[in-house]
Amino acid sequence: MDKIKEITSGKAKSLYTTENPEYLVMNFRDDTSAFDGKKTAALLGKGSVNNQFNAFIMNHLEEKGIKTHLIKVINNNESLVHKLKMFPIECVIRNTASGSICRRLGTEDGLVFEHPLFEFFLKDDDLGDPLINDEHIIAFGWANKEQINSMKNFTYKVNDILKELFINSGLILVDFKVEFGLHENGDIVLADEFTPDGCRLWDHETMEKMDKDRFRQDLGDVVESYHQVAHRLGMNIKLD
Ligand code: ADP
Ligand code: TMP
Ligand code: ASP
Repeated sequence: MDKIKEITSGKAKSLYTTENPEYLVMNFRDDTSAFDGKKTAALLGKGSVNNQFNAFIMNHLEEKGIKTHLIKVINNNESLVHKLKMFPIECVIRNTASGSICRRLGTEDGLVFEHPLFEFFLKDDDLGDPLINDEHIIAFGWANKEQINSMKNFTYKVNDILKELFINSGLILVDFKVEFGLHENGDIVLADEFTPDGCRLWDHETMEKMDKDRFRQDLGDVVESYHQVAHRLGMNIKLD
């Protein structure tokens, strides 16, 4: 399906309208950003591996009963997705403490939580994606109680499914962020992406970081690590 007009160009992806008003083309660019857009770089081949990585994960989640926006992969860098009204909210689950929770609460990096910890963040780079709770979401009208519960339940389910998928390939799913949107038919649908850009993955033996922390912390071999994860999960990533 041909792209018609660019409607959004975010930090890492661009969205285009198509001849079908219900569908969008999602283009995964090589652009990489961290710290709410404060650190940026173009990493050759990242868009391609992320598009294909995302499709593999979304297809796996669909097989396990999660509704996702993915329709199909179009080419190495682009996928066709359902157009949704996005909730301006990020849903994060932490199995192990790392990143912002350590800064906020003084938690030791690597502490394994007894129960997965769910957090909502407001999607607003200018405000630094602040932590919010259900009460903020209701008060500001970003989602209703039922939608909040659905987003939480789906995120926990995604965690159960993906924790198992990754550990079977020797990778610890430390934490991740997902976003949901509302379909015209009222369904809450998993949208955006699931790639090493939006999660933390550690090798379970060496504890080596295999995700975007390699970019945040200047550890090098960012795209190579994403390929390594894809390979370990049995994905067949096509090169540009
Ligand atoms: P950002 O800079 O906002 O973090 P990206 O570069 O990842 O974002 O751009 C993707 C944008 O597209 C995000 O704002 C995301 O919320 C939005 N989006 C993701 N999936 C869909 C969808 N199915 N329909 C409409 N918008 C979407
Ligand atoms: P954090 O430690 O920065 O709060 O992030 C937790 C996880 O969620 C981490 O894997 C990165 C991901 N994340 C994003 O990808 N984008 C975001 O805007 C936020 C808040 C988190
Ligand atoms: N994705 C978030 C941002 O762009 C968090 C991060 O990657 O550091 O800031």
